[in-house]
Amino acid sequence: MCSEISRNKNGSEWRNFYGRLKGKSLSTKQKNTLITEFEKYSLGKISYEENPKRKKIKLSEIFDGKSVWLEIGFGGGEHLIHQARLNPEIGFIGCEPYQNGVAKLMGKLRTNPCQNIKLYDGDIRSVFDVLAKNSISKVFLLYPDPWPKKRHHRRRFVTQEFLIPLYETMKPGSILRIATDIEDYVRQALQEVPKAGFKWLADDASDWRTPWQDWAPTRYEIKALREERTPHYLTFIV
Ligand SMILES: C[S@@+](CC[C@H](N)C(=O)[O-])C[C@H]1O[C@@H](n2cnc3c(N)ncnc32)[C@H](O)[C@@H]1O
Repeated sequence: MCSEISRNKNGSEWRNFYGRLKGKSLSTKQKNTLITEFEKYSLGKISYEENPKRKKIKLSEIFDGKSVWLEIGFGGGEHLIHQARLNPEIGFIGCEPYQNGVAKLMGKLRTNPCQNIKLYDGDIRSVFDVLAKNSISKVFLLYPDPWPKKRHHRRRFVTQEFLIPLYETMKPGSILRIATDIEDYVRQALQEVPKAGFKWLADDASDWRTPWQDWAPTRYEIKALREERTPHYLTFIV
């Protein structure tokens, strides 16, 4: 894992990012696909460097007035593509800072283009800065980085630093789905997510055991099942 500190124009520290930005070297084909294809799918000027005034982006123009759903940390993009194909009337934002994940998705999109997807290849907090309040209708957070060591729990997505801006960007009545195979992550999510204003939708214990009807397993879920860990599916409402 590497740590990158984002700096603003004055050189002062802006945000820490602790996840992985790059894995093994991309093939020449993957690099070329990234260069030639990414622009078509780019969400726009999101990063601090491109948008230092943090001007809001216009989702109604980008997605022709469609409702917008967001997937945070889409990995290789399997679930994002699945949902985008299943819901052509919805606009999708996918956010993933891991270059190899973005390259994987771009490869799939090159063979099978998908008109209703826009991407940001950086930290989700930069997207929150430039989204208007109450603008997102559904959010997927699937197998977020577990940060198993106790001293790293504050890096998890289910902390107020991430949850408060997420809550503000979501429309009243909209849904947040969280999937994880880490029991301690479930504990922290059930404690922290409601603190940010969300309500957990669960009638009985079986609710978190059953995948959503329109679910497509992600790469991390397949790995979790292979290693005999139990997926948990949590649904919250704004
Ligand atoms: C454990 S992986 C899961 C990937 C995918 N959702 C799956 O289930 O296969 C977590 C992903 O979250 C991404 N991630 C970590 N921090 C992030 C951030 N601040 N903004 C957006 N994505 C982030 C990582 O790059 C990584 O790809």
